[in-house]
Amino acid sequence: MELNQNVLDRFRLDGKVAVVTGAAGNIGSHSAEAFAQVGANVAIVDLPVCLDRSKEVAKRLADQYGVKAMAYGCELTDEKQVAAMFDQIEADFGSVDVVHDNAGVGGSPTPDIEEWDGEHNMAHIDHWRQVININLVSIYIVAVAAARVMKREGHGGSIVITGSLAGQNVNQGPLWQTQDDSSYGTAKAGVLYFTKHFASQVIRYGIRVNSLSPGYCYSPGLHSGFPKEVLDVYDHSQPIDRMMQVEELQAAILFLASDASTYCVGTDLLVDGGHKNW
Ligand SMILES: NC(=O)c1ccc[n+]([C@@H]2O[C@H](COP(=O)([O-])OP(=O)(O)OC[C@H]3O[C@@H](n4cnc5c(N)ncnc54)[C@H](O)[C@@H]3O)[C@@H](O)[C@H]2O)c1
Repeated sequence: MELNQNVLDRFRLDGKVAVVTGAAGNIGSHSAEAFAQVGANVAIVDLPVCLDRSKEVAKRLADQYGVKAMAYGCELTDEKQVAAMFDQIEADFGSVDVVHDNAGVGGSPTPDIEEWDGEHNMAHIDHWRQVININLVSIYIVAVAAARVMKREGHGGSIVITGSLAGQNVNQGPLWQTQDDSSYGTAKAGVLYFTKHFASQVIRYGIRVNSLSPGYCYSPGLHSGFPKEVLDVYDHSQPIDRMMQVEELQAAILFLASDASTYCVGTDLLVDGGHKNW
């Protein structure tokens, strides 16, 4: 394969089409901004109820970086909606080159065993299923639909899946309390396995699949229900002694999405402030 001689140029995505899910949210909107900064046209995807916020993100990126940016409302756990969305993006942009498969929700801050007790029994299993459905099943649906379009277009592509430190380590809670419930970490562990498995299947079509695992990065959508004591632990549970700023993920996303990482196939890139060093 022919690589651009200048290593910095390999990060560029001029004229490529990048699709970002969960792009009305914290990490997704910053991922879309990073893609726009290196010249990609961007499809901003989030829930239909977030369409206004998605449109705001799209407008800001188009105004600021002169790229084409459009917003789409889609329930990503619904495979029919996802297939229709990719067909629409292909019709609007002409191609799909990069997909950041990123949307997700938080788990419950209450340990499973507490919620299994008494009358809240069924509420908990419903919540657990919902987190697995959004954080694991929808990741699968989006990745397969994206690869299907890339395979049909015949030019390869790059899929970046958002995993998590929580898929590798149990989230630590304050000493007086056990951790959050297991739904989130179980889904993310599945996402990391799926990335390696799917990457091995689709590399033959020139489609690379890799995952990015952030450590603790404060996002109101994910963390607003968490008690202050838990957030305090997140703040101080890594050698760097602070939570991540979302901008600190942008270069890592670009690395995996672009020709800067042509030999990464099923790689997980952990950005955790040293959390796993302990
Ligand atoms: N913030 C962190 O510390 C952190 C750490 C590790 C991994 N992550 C992962 O990063 C990703 C983005 O999280 P974030 O921090 O930006 O949170 P966020 O809440 O700001 O963004 C998540 C977005 O996903 C969207 N979404 C949720 N369910 C959806 C569905 N069914 N269909 C379509 N869109 C849906 C939400 O509307 C939201 O805009 C998630 O997968 C999360 O698990 C976050």
